[in-house]
Amino acid sequence: MFALVHILSILSFGLVCASQGNDDPVVVGLTFLAESTDPSEGSTPWALTSHGIAEKLFTVDKNGNIVGQLATSVAKVSDFVWDVTIQPDSKFSDGTPVSSEAVAFSLMEQNNKNPSAQSSLGNMTVVALDDTTVRIESERQTHMMDAVLAEWAFVIYSKASDGNFVFTGPFAIAVFEAEQIHLVPNEYYLGATVRSSVLIKKFEDGHDLATAFKDDKVDIAFQLPIDTLPDLRKEKGARIKSFEVGYHYMMFYNMETLEDVRIRKAIDLAIDRNTVSQALAGGKGTRSLFPDNSPFFSDDSEAGGDPDAASKLLEEAGWALNTSGKRAKDGKELTVQLVAYPHRPGLLISQKVIAETLTALGISVTTIVTGQDWSETEQVINDRSFDLLMWAQHTLPAGDPLWFLTTFFRSDGSNNHAHINSTTIDLYVDMLSRSEGHDERVMLSQTIQDFILEAVPVSNLVTPFWHVGLSERAADYEPWGSDYYVIRSDLSVAPGEVSGGQRSAAAQGLLIICATFMVVML
Ligand SMILES: *[C@@H]1O[C@H](CO)[C@@H](O)[C@H](O)[C@H]1NC(C)=O
Ligand SMILES: *[C@@H]1O[C@H](CO)[C@@H](O)[C@H](O)[C@H]1NC(C)=O
Ligand SMILES: *[C@@H]1O[C@H](CO)[C@@H](O)[C@H](O)[C@H]1NC(C)=O
Repeated sequence: MFALVHILSILSFGLVCASQGNDDPVVVGLTFLAESTDPSEGSTPWALTSHGIAEKLFTVDKNGNIVGQLATSVAKVSDFVWDVTIQPDSKFSDGTPVSSEAVAFSLMEQNNKNPSAQSSLGNMTVVALDDTTVRIESERQTHMMDAVLAEWAFVIYSKASDGNFVFTGPFAIAVFEAEQIHLVPNEYYLGATVRSSVLIKKFEDGHDLATAFKDDKVDIAFQLPIDTLPDLRKEKGARIKSFEVGYHYMMFYNMETLEDVRIRKAIDLAIDRNTVSQALAGGKGTRSLFPDNSPFFSDDSEAGGDPDAASKLLEEAGWALNTSGKRAKDGKELTVQLVAYPHRPGLLISQKVIAETLTALGISVTTIVTGQDWSETEQVINDRSFDLLMWAQHTLPAGDPLWFLTTFFRSDGSNNHAHINSTTIDLYVDMLSRSEGHDERVMLSQTIQDFILEAVPVSNLVTPFWHVGLSERAADYEPWGSDYYVIRSDLSVAPGEVSGGQRSAAAQGLLIICATFMVVML
């Protein structure tokens, strides 16, 4: 009996040792990291999904289709009431079941706390009807409840008994730090045994990340700045993958300081979108608010700039060129504050091209780059101290155009940076939110884009390409879904083949201790 217990304990100790030996995490280098584990804070739910930690009731697959994740179906009960059926056997990463009560709690709390969870539905009341059904009653009508529930703010979570948040994604948080997050496979997620652990490391900027990639310190470098590519390609060749992203680079106009639509239109006309995409070394210059691989793409305009037409519009608006090449009206100079934030290096590259274009047009441009701390950019937005605001946005995160059009262009949208207030756009956005047929949604979305183009609250610039560096063992990784789906359930790499000595000294030490103990015990 004693011998059996002894052998069993050695065996189980051996198993623990073996699992320590496999602790060779996939190192994912990012320039952004979830700021906390609290999914009700700002864009944290976005980041948690991107990290492979959180999931929603519905999501968008690789081909842009809306598919069930924790839910299986939605059914309309009446105009403002929907029933959602949830998967009966899903579990949180602590093993507790994803009950209808937990789902109702998540949706209610997000809706109460996060403005981004109010855009499509207004106020919501969510109750658990039975074990697998929740009923949603909303203030605003939708005909696409699955698309709404795929919006990034609607992650499903629960508070574990130790006070930590738990989620349902393929990975669970082991250690959460400001500069890195250790993830372990969520053992209650299908296929957990084939996944390795993951170490997400935050890099200050793309150049630091490129250096780490060059030195084989990361398995997935997400994403590399274009000026590092020629050099890296020489060494790593095909292990740099480029892909078109759902993000758009755009520029919002402050419609209060640039009140005359002719000025906004002139600026929009002057910008050469081909020059912008060349400067970005990839991407497609377009005025369409949605990418060309989506059904909502709409653009038959010229991507090249037309400075003559722009000049003419400014003259018409009374801003003539004086002999020193400056635009002035009634002795007042035409000046703009052109603001960009540094978190998307591509925005700064675009900002430079635009500043040159506007200067050539006779406009005095002050270029401002805000700091690393997002609150600085927030301050500029709240103070409205910008004339032009560079912005990167994933415009179809839930596969449907309603969220972006509502949030950025409805008069009461939470990201209405331009302060556009058009009863026509509001009316059509509301029509879109009620429309059911796909063709009708495409048509309405194009009509809304036409109105937006006419009013010029924004100049869409390009749909960019992004570049991801991969280590040899991660070479099969396929980037898709921009940076919203970086770490996914299909992320697994061959263990053992350590990239650049990733196995920590601590893990090596543990292995030696393990081996020694095993020998002694035997
Ligand atoms: C939505 O709920 C909030 C908080 O309960 C409330 O202040 C607001 O008036 C509600 N909005 C509408 C339109 O009912
Ligand atoms: C042109 O306008 C700018 C800005 O108002 C002014 O500083 C400059 O002196 C003007 N030049 C001439 C030649 O009037
Ligand atoms: C939009 O303009 C209308 C009429 O001028 C005004 O009543 C309304 O409050 C404005 N909406 C917003 C959100 O500013």
